[in-house]
Amino acid sequence: MIVDLPSVLVKARRGGYAVGAFNVYNLETVDAVLAGAGELRSPVIIAFGERYLKNFPIRAVAAVVRTMAQDSPVPVVLHLDHANRLESIEQAIGAGFTSVMIDGSKNPLEENIAVTKEAVALARPKGVSVEAELGRITRTGVAAEDLFTDPAEAVEFMKRTGVDALAVSVGTVHGLYKGKPTLDLERLARIAMDVHAPLVLHGGSGVPEDLIRKAIPLGVAKLNINTEMSIEGVNAVRAFLSAKGNENTRLEELMVEARNAMVGVVKRYIEFFGSAGKA
Ligand code: 13P
Repeated sequence: MIVDLPSVLVKARRGGYAVGAFNVYNLETVDAVLAGAGELRSPVIIAFGERYLKNFPIRAVAAVVRTMAQDSPVPVVLHLDHANRLESIEQAIGAGFTSVMIDGSKNPLEENIAVTKEAVALARPKGVSVEAELGRITRTGVAAEDLFTDPAEAVEFMKRTGVDALAVSVGTVHGLYKGKPTLDLERLARIAMDVHAPLVLHGGSGVPEDLIRKAIPLGVAKLNINTEMSIEGVNAVRAFLSAKGNENTRLEELMVEARNAMVGVVKRYIEFFGSAGKA
């Protein structure tokens, strides 16, 4: 069943667990996410990033996910991840996405609020939910404290935009971490005290399980995973090629190896997000 973001996240924040948002860019990734979530009876978010438009046309993503979700035993959110352009938001809504993320976090506060309000104005009338980002999550290996979310700004941002979920910067980065990641849990707690909407952590790959388990009760209801799925998919293909590869190796065999490895990643994260059995 296909649903919007609040349908799964409000319960998650209240219930003290998080729902995984796993990035997809082809049929195998969609299949892996739905299989992992289905096996563990967990709600799940299929996240498709604007940057993957070259891999998977947006109308095809929506057609595939909506069709496959009909046969899934769990609630599935079809979410546009990190849209910098309102045009992508319009395309996703038109294609049948149930949720979108507008990422105005590179802009100063007022501009971020303005672009986020525009996204809400496009999405709400169509029944589509909106996530926004305040503070910045980089791709630099190490989080920059000066880009962390300011708790007072978070309150103002929520009041003026009314988004359904807020991505915050408290120590995570996209991609691989240089050194051991840390989270500013005290800041997260301060944000969560006055922002009652579900909070989102991007850059989930590689964050130690114990830190994630501490962050979830502080209001984190959505956790994004991309890099680790890709790494484990690629590793499985590499291992297959070095053990059994020959001139007859078929592409579809490799895809199955990658898909199975990604199911394992999805299930591992669902287990420690605490969402297994919550569908
Ligand atoms: P990772 O690639 O670090 O897992 O981050 C995923 C993400 O935040 C997608 O928006």
